[in-house]
Amino acid sequence: MTPPAVPVSLRWSDEAGGRLEILDQTLLPGRLAWIGCRDVDAVVEAIRSLRVRGAPAIGIAGGYGLVVAAGEAIRDRLDPDASRAHVLAQAARLAAARPTAVNLRWAVDRGVAALETLSSTGTAADLQATLLGEARAIHDEDRRLCDAIGRHGAAILPDGDVLTHCNTGALATGGAGTALAAITTAWDQGRRFRVYTDETRPLLQGARLTAWELGQRGIPVTVLVDAAAGHLLASGRVGAVIVGADRITACGDTANKIGTYSLAVLAAAHAVPFFVAAPSSTFDLSIESGTEIPIEERDAAEVLAPLGVRAAPAGATAFNPAFDVTPARLIRGIVTERGVIAPVTRETIVRTLSPA
Ligand code: MRU
Repeated sequence: MTPPAVPVSLRWSDEAGGRLEILDQTLLPGRLAWIGCRDVDAVVEAIRSLRVRGAPAIGIAGGYGLVVAAGEAIRDRLDPDASRAHVLAQAARLAAARPTAVNLRWAVDRGVAALETLSSTGTAADLQATLLGEARAIHDEDRRLCDAIGRHGAAILPDGDVLTHCNTGALATGGAGTALAAITTAWDQGRRFRVYTDETRPLLQGARLTAWELGQRGIPVTVLVDAAAGHLLASGRVGAVIVGADRITACGDTANKIGTYSLAVLAAAHAVPFFVAAPSSTFDLSIESGTEIPIEERDAAEVLAPLGVRAAPAGATAFNPAFDVTPARLIRGIVTERGVIAPVTRETIVRTLSPA
């Protein structure tokens, strides 16, 4: 049976000198609209304001962002030295657009490394062709990684309903997703269950995006406020929790959307297995502990005036970390494209991620 079509989060268009097209996720589920980015400012703005979001998807956007930077050098008729300097300066801006998901820096570094294979006399057009090849490779690879993660994840999901957090589907990646791919693959294999998704305060990626993606595929989905997760897990209705990741350290500590840590603690309290799903590009083996992961803090307005509607009195301040860290000891297994890492230890991580 042909698997159902999944939404596309971003694509490259060769029209009019080339542009990165992004499905504007801030408008979903109400409106499906694409924005075209022909300069790096627009790419950085789209990443910062979560028009494109999710660790693998922002990595892919960073890769194409370098192609956009080379396009700027072509338009400004820069010579080879100035073109390379321009792309490198824009690479630093792209990599810093959001600090927590390591996939962004990883993808930008890959593009920059590809440039090192080019002669120093390479023109802006040469740089652009090389960067486009690398960005397309990253994008294509992510599609394949998502499929593998979906297969491995479906195999370890126990029977019963499943709870997830934030959005880890096609919108968050270049393919079918990570944690959500495990769920949709299990469904496509004929298993039947209900998916519970936290609404995911404050920007509602669970309610707006995960519920939309699952609804498109006809998979039953129930949205709960984040604070209802403890009550749901205590009811015994949920067989497993599965979430994505923005950065996983060498010992398995995992940064993911704010609220994930609370969910892991609650899952442990109720003996419900808690899984993380992520590609190898989400691992940062240069750091040991979760305390070393930079946690993005976002604008207070996202909390004080959700979706533009003022909820707190003028003068109130907000604490708005976008991510938290779940310690490895609370994670039953990490699903990667290479298989499931369980138990989660430094040794099992290194063994799974080492080149075959
Ligand atoms: O702030 P967001 O929406 O980019 O946060 C996304 C998440 O936390 C996802 O769980 C994570 O990036 C994995 S996406 C496959």
